[in-house]
Amino acid sequence: MPAPRIKSPRLLVAESGADREGHGLKRTMGLFQLICFGVGAIVGTGIFVGLSDSVAQAGPAVVVSFVLAALTCVFTAFSFAELGGAIPVSGSSYSFAYAGLGESTAFLVGWCLLLEYGVSISAVAVGWSQYVNELLHSLTGLQLPAALSAGPGDGGVINLPAVIVIAMASALLVRGVRESARATAAMAAVKLAILLAFCAIGYSAFKDGNLTPFSPAGLGGIGAGTTAAFFSYIGFDAITTAGEEAKNPRRHIPVAIMVCMGIVTLLYCAVALAAIGAIGGDQVAGRPAALSYVVNEVTGSAIGGGVIAFGAVVAIASVVLAVMYGQTRILMSMARDGLIPRVFEKVSPRTSTPVAGTLIVGAVFALPAAFASLDAVMNLCTIGTLAIMAVVNVTVLALRRREPGLDRSFRVPLYPVAPLLGIGFCLYLMWETGWHTWIQFAVFLAAGLAVYVLYGRRHSTLAGTAPAGEVTPAGEVTPAAAEREPQAV
Ligand code: ALA
Repeated sequence: MPAPRIKSPRLLVAESGADREGHGLKRTMGLFQLICFGVGAIVGTGIFVGLSDSVAQAGPAVVVSFVLAALTCVFTAFSFAELGGAIPVSGSSYSFAYAGLGESTAFLVGWCLLLEYGVSISAVAVGWSQYVNELLHSLTGLQLPAALSAGPGDGGVINLPAVIVIAMASALLVRGVRESARATAAMAAVKLAILLAFCAIGYSAFKDGNLTPFSPAGLGGIGAGTTAAFFSYIGFDAITTAGEEAKNPRRHIPVAIMVCMGIVTLLYCAVALAAIGAIGGDQVAGRPAALSYVVNEVTGSAIGGGVIAFGAVVAIASVVLAVMYGQTRILMSMARDGLIPRVFEKVSPRTSTPVAGTLIVGAVFALPAAFASLDAVMNLCTIGTLAIMAVVNVTVLALRRREPGLDRSFRVPLYPVAPLLGIGFCLYLMWETGWHTWIQFAVFLAAGLAVYVLYGRRHSTLAGTAPAGEVTPAGEVTPAAAEREPQAV
């Protein structure tokens, strides 16, 4: 059996220029921007739209589901932090897998990232559309006709708002990363403020009795609720895609991941308790735009619900922006390695952004956003993300053995227990998604393998070279690899 094609962490970093200035991308993001970017990428559809589904499964015990989903992510977040600090390149889990497990696994991780990032862009845009309608309704009493605000699966023809939010995010990302980071920071502040205001309103009407029975569907309900709640945490790893645009990636990426996970977990538990404590789990379960409903019920007026709808519109738009950013940077890394067409790595000298890649990503994922329903894609997105997270934990184990001397600015605590627990939690939640999702996932992976064998393997920059990375002792890239610096368009 041929040895796996592995790119050493040193080669990945040297090729990307991650430790120096002057590469195609610009270093503009400090710690604060990275934290805002993380909150921007994480808090959106999952809490504003998905909460009612998680409550339908778990009842008030949804708080336990949120903590379990957070635990799954925290163990894996440790692994992302270690790898993001050690290999600060924009490919995130794809590049980590290339260094730890080899090219074919890395390609499949990149393929699954299309589910985590690409499909969640579409799913999140569909959630945005629901709250745009809610906002319009509370402002004017009117709503967009179903034909123009939902796909065929949800009783409409085309989901125009979902397409519009993706087009706006693409335009902003093309303009420049500084502009995008500023917009994300502002949007993160708005959504935090609105969710905190929601908590204050919810707790003002809190009744202990609304929390009983605490777990109406028992452990099975908590498990299903955890799988549903997991979607709300997707996106924390997007911070690692900023490795080539962060000012001090080795120090700031691990810190930003940990801070974001802390903020978001507390926020989600507080919001869930406030919603259920105010009006009871039965009232929240399965209700569209549930947070607006809670506020309308507590305040007795539609104004508060309108403000929440505004917060949701802002929050969800920021997730689309941040996740699209991550997707384009991962595709850039894959193109740099030759595994996908090189158009994705071209950086515009004028805006320092991958213009063509961004426009292609926007156009491709606007299609499912226009025509698919949220439920149809959420489970597939969840299982793909969990698979990536499991691989990232395995990569930490592999790289600790293969590269013990690697410069790690952050080390996973409780090693190897934490990554092993991360793997266990991921596999458990993958199991919970059900056989139907597994079949879809298997077909998706088989298609990815076919693309790798027919295109990626042949065009890889490592095709026909030694499996280990070509980098001089001084850390310079050898001429063959150096020729592959991104080209200006
Ligand atoms: N975590 C992201 C959201 O909830 C995907 O919208």
